[in-house]
Amino acid sequence: MGIKKVGVVGCGLMGHGIVQVAAQAGCDVIALESDQGFLDKGLARIQKSLAKMGEKAVQKGKQTEEQAAAFAKDAFGRITGSLDKNDLADCDLVVEAIVEDLDVKKALFAELGKICKADTIFASNTSSFPIAEMADASGRPARFVGLHFFNPVQLMRLVEVVRTDKTDDDVFAAARAFGEAVGKAPVSCKDTPGFVVNRLLVPYMVQSLLMLDRGDASKEDIDTAMQFGCGHPMGPITLTDYVGLDTTLSILEGWVERYPDEPAFEIPQVLRTKVEEGKLGRKSGEGFYTWDGDKKA
Ligand SMILES: NC(=O)c1ccc[n+]([C@@H]2O[C@H](COP(=O)([O-])OP(=O)(O)OC[C@H]3O[C@@H](n4cnc5c(N)ncnc54)[C@H](O)[C@@H]3O)[C@@H](O)[C@H]2O)c1
Repeated sequence: MGIKKVGVVGCGLMGHGIVQVAAQAGCDVIALESDQGFLDKGLARIQKSLAKMGEKAVQKGKQTEEQAAAFAKDAFGRITGSLDKNDLADCDLVVEAIVEDLDVKKALFAELGKICKADTIFASNTSSFPIAEMADASGRPARFVGLHFFNPVQLMRLVEVVRTDKTDDDVFAAARAFGEAVGKAPVSCKDTPGFVVNRLLVPYMVQSLLMLDRGDASKEDIDTAMQFGCGHPMGPITLTDYVGLDTTLSILEGWVERYPDEPAFEIPQVLRTKVEEGKLGRKSGEGFYTWDGDKKA
């Protein structure tokens, strides 16, 4: 693989996982944050995750304690935390995983376009914005892709690799190869809203909430139907609580504004009302269900 040095911008929920899988795959990684406190938290999460993985490998007899400790030490040793964007200058790939705000992302890539070497590949982990807009802002649209990982990055096998009309074939191939090297199953997708997974999943969640709006069935029955009728691990209403009602609403608002003629993108009233009431799902303790940490109360 041509990609040896990776920069990850943002070391939050997604970024810390991307840093970790890249380091586990043998890349040197710069973990860039805007704030020392967030950087420390992200690096601590990585150490904890590496230790947990090691414990499991030992329990399963795949590694000795010494091997697991050495693997974690090596992987963590390849990570350098930084608050200075100039440290990304010689990265082969920079993956952005900062706040889901298009203007902030565009400003970041405009800056990185001036800092990074000419052949650095840029990637965004955005869930909902057009890759092409960030690619244009970076000043190097041919060397820009989407790399959409899933939460938790360490465990979820999928990465969606997204190309725009301007992405070079060799850049796209290198991004897919990176996805494979970090242990994921890459799927290719055009720069279309929601890529594959969210384009199917978000309208499905919307339909379940519209059923609630209409009073077609109770939330419990909708969830049970999809769990036991389709073998899904959780129903769509529980899933919305997991994803976060504010996150779901913000994705939908962006899509409805950008693609007003797409009938699959609709905002259920019940979603707006809950968010207005501060009921954001699992993270706020209440959404459609009441939550006690990770479990329904
Ligand atoms: N949460 C998910 O399940 C999920 C899944 C796939 C993709 N995504 C996408 O990944 C991205 C990150 O989401 P998250 O859930 O990890 O968010 P998060 O809030 O947990 O992390 C974002 C981090 O970026 C840092 N940051 C913000 N601006 C920065 C800047 N200019 N420079 C450096 N660091 C900066 C913040 O300090 C924070 O630690 C978003 O685009 C989101 O849509 C999220």
